[in-house]
Amino acid sequence: MTIRTVATTPFDGQKPGTSGLRKKVKVFEQPNYSENFVQSVFDVVEGMDGATLVIGGDGRYHNRAVIQQAIRMAAANGFARVLVGQGGILSTPAASNVIRQYGAIGGLVLSASHNPGGPDEDFGIKYNVANGGPAPEKITDAIYARTTEIDRWLTVDAPDIDLDTIGTTNVGGMVVEVIDSVADYAALMETLFDFDAIRAMAKGGAAGGFTLAFDAMSAVTGPYAHEIFEKRLGFAPGTVRNGTPLEDFGHHHPDPNLVHAKDLYDLMMSDAAPDFGAASDGDGDRNLIIGRGRFITPSDSLAMLAANAHMAKGYAGGLKGIARSMPTSAAADRVADALGITCYETPTGWKFFGNLLDAGMATICGEESAGTGSDHVREKDGVWAVLLWLNILAVRRISVDALARDHWARFGRNYYARHDYEAIETDKANTLMAALQASFADLPHQAIGGLVIAEADSFSYTDPVDGSVSSNQGLRILFEGGSRIVFRLSGTGTQGATLRVYLERYEDRNGKLDAETPNMLADLVAAADVIAGIQRHTGRTAPDVIT
Ligand code: G1P
Ligand code: ZN
Repeated sequence: MTIRTVATTPFDGQKPGTSGLRKKVKVFEQPNYSENFVQSVFDVVEGMDGATLVIGGDGRYHNRAVIQQAIRMAAANGFARVLVGQGGILSTPAASNVIRQYGAIGGLVLSASHNPGGPDEDFGIKYNVANGGPAPEKITDAIYARTTEIDRWLTVDAPDIDLDTIGTTNVGGMVVEVIDSVADYAALMETLFDFDAIRAMAKGGAAGGFTLAFDAMSAVTGPYAHEIFEKRLGFAPGTVRNGTPLEDFGHHHPDPNLVHAKDLYDLMMSDAAPDFGAASDGDGDRNLIIGRGRFITPSDSLAMLAANAHMAKGYAGGLKGIARSMPTSAAADRVADALGITCYETPTGWKFFGNLLDAGMATICGEESAGTGSDHVREKDGVWAVLLWLNILAVRRISVDALARDHWARFGRNYYARHDYEAIETDKANTLMAALQASFADLPHQAIGGLVIAEADSFSYTDPVDGSVSSNQGLRILFEGGSRIVFRLSGTGTQGATLRVYLERYEDRNGKLDAETPNMLADLVAAADVIAGIQRHTGRTAPDVIT
């Protein structure tokens, strides 16, 4: 085998954000670009000699080209074996599982998550480590540092492999196994959930059984959903919608929220609604949960799953702890209190849950951005969340709406929404955040509308496992009575800056539990603009997306 060294120059990698390198496809298509990033990863990873690497992606445009190149580069860098999903497909949670199950040293996950795909849209590469989770900050920092000085990448000269046929090939002395993308993941799900109970609930379909609509959004979960929901659990053919992964996701944003999964939402609010509606995103880690006539916010979903998880066999022993990102509502905290366990509050991004899961301090984690998961892998997991809901409903035999009402009657209700202002000029967004933070000393005790500010701070997190500190993780305004506004700039956007404003209002069990969310949050929306001057700084009078 001859290793070829290709001279290159440093490139605009990316300062570590919440999820690897994410840019337009056109940027990735530049000569040396993907190669520089992959080599920067390999230059940082220790112990490649003789090790196994996992490669897979969400099937978006450019996926196959980068996979073929990464395989040649892995061979040149000394890996002994690459496991790659058939057709280049591995959902993010399935990749996490494969890394763990086969003792791989890590994996390259090619995805830009919920961002659109296609020649003019987005692509991304992220590196996951041996525990199956996203690389921690010290590794992403090192990868970024390497991108600023890289001067060569290594490859072998070998033809593209056949990605579509399961089997083993040799590339420059390295073994490449094309594996079934779904089988290991589906087997893992069978160990966690009572498939017989769900199957029994589904039996009869439209003729009286429990019905499901799962929208795979033309993205990676299609094959997983067909196999698990239709084949193994017996939901009717057609239960899975948009179940074929497309390189451009059918020109849609594969983002399971009320804007981009509006068809599903409309169905669930109509007379023709099935019992349960769900969707997942581009790479299969996010989830949307809607019962007939009842949308469940991701923050509530986390709390409701945590309160009922012991009904599924994988969690029958109870939860060790719960973890949520800071902007996620405090609904899960109340469940943790009732269960007598800790609810950890982490910065945004799944990577912060890894240490807690590895240390056995948390079992279930979630983010307001529709990410929920557990210690079964080290990524959030859309199909898993749907299965846990189905398992709970099969045991409790109630509707989603009834379960939600029952939950609020016990714990109170956290009304919640996130307002996103997208593609703001970066300077303006930074000025807004700096001005807001500079005003903090004056904010306490100020009254805005009917709200009185209790405290304002910039969220900083000390990891309880390794002591590492992550500061500047979002600006929080806490009001008397438990309402809250959080301001944060997105770490995953590819154009300008995205300002996220998270609004939360708590009503206890004796409060208003059946109101419309926008009505309950109206005074907070007004206060957000007064406090941060959103319109003054950005010229925007309304958010682009409300979730
Ligand atoms: C967004 C979400 C965050 C999630 C991340 C990756 O990050 O808000 O919860 O972990 O995508 O899916 P952001 O763009 O806000 O930095
Ligand atoms: Zn995703």
